[in-house]
Amino acid sequence: MIRGKMAMATLVGCVVLYISLGHIPSSLGVILRTTDKIVWANEFEPIELTCLIESISTNNPRIEWKKIKNGVPSYVYFQNKVAGDLENRAQLREPANIVIFNATRSDTAEYRCEVAAIDDQRDFDEILISLAVRVKPVVPRCSIPEAVTVGTSTELRCLENEGFPAPLYRWFHNNEELLQDPKSSQRFVNLSYSINPDTGGLKFRRVRKEDAGEYYCQAKNDAGHAQCAPQIMEVYDVDILGIFLKAAGGLTVFVCLALSMYSLRRVCVQNKGHSENNYNWPAQSEGVDYGDADEGHFRHKSSFII
Ligand SMILES: *[C@@H]1O[C@H](CO)[C@@H](O)[C@H](O)[C@H]1NC(C)=O
Ligand SMILES: *[C@@H]1O[C@H](CO)[C@@H](O)[C@H](O)[C@H]1NC(C)=O
Repeated sequence: MIRGKMAMATLVGCVVLYISLGHIPSSLGVILRTTDKIVWANEFEPIELTCLIESISTNNPRIEWKKIKNGVPSYVYFQNKVAGDLENRAQLREPANIVIFNATRSDTAEYRCEVAAIDDQRDFDEILISLAVRVKPVVPRCSIPEAVTVGTSTELRCLENEGFPAPLYRWFHNNEELLQDPKSSQRFVNLSYSINPDTGGLKFRRVRKEDAGEYYCQAKNDAGHAQCAPQIMEVYDVDILGIFLKAAGGLTVFVCLALSMYSLRRVCVQNKGHSENNYNWPAQSEGVDYGDADEGHFRHKSSFII
């Protein structure tokens, strides 16, 4: 009894092993296989999606390829012709592979090879391959402040939207790459920045005089890299910008005050002139100083606003 069970188990085990090794008699039907279920290609390069027929007895199987993008299938090989998105851009290669001559980013999708073999017992098989087309990054947009003050915090930013997969960012200062973790190198131990390679941010907690110089950022993925033009960031010892702004602000207030005083005085003078001599106005409009009257009016208004 026990022996019988063991023999049975051995037999089942052998059959399982037999099947899993793929040694299935062709009479069982069509079996497909691929070398890569997940395929990466570079944009503007050729790529082959393999659909190998492991076993088949039908002489002329029906081969079809579908592209599935966002869940929507469409034919790319149908009735022995390349069709749809791949028309004129691909061909079938024996036994059922599809070769795209010049991959583009829009080819990123899932592709399903379907083979129907009517003379086989198992008369249909399909295999799903996902294709991802790598895209080189374009020149990233870099935002680098022209001038910052010592001791303040600032962030330099870098962004690129074309690259696929999403690029990682690196920053360069005076043509030297800034390490992601400056504390790891003796040479950079005094620096106070941090880089986020995923978002492209270069943050300074406290800008130092030595941080001045030329900066650029590089976006890089497996397909290639691109960088923005270097830009100069100046670092001021004191808050020159602030001082200038304050000075400019003070000056503005002074000018405004002066202007309003002036226009008030003019209004008074005009009112006085008006009451004293009603013929003063026609005299002015008759010729000499039209513009000045308008200006006075304008200043009057603006002094009200202030
Ligand atoms: C692939 O296509 C791109 C754009 O359509 C074109 O610029 C490039 O020359 C093509 N490459 C090849 C090898 O045909
Ligand atoms: C870092 O700063 C310390 C103290 O401020 C200084 O002694 C040292 O030389 C600096 N190191 C480098 C590599 O600049």
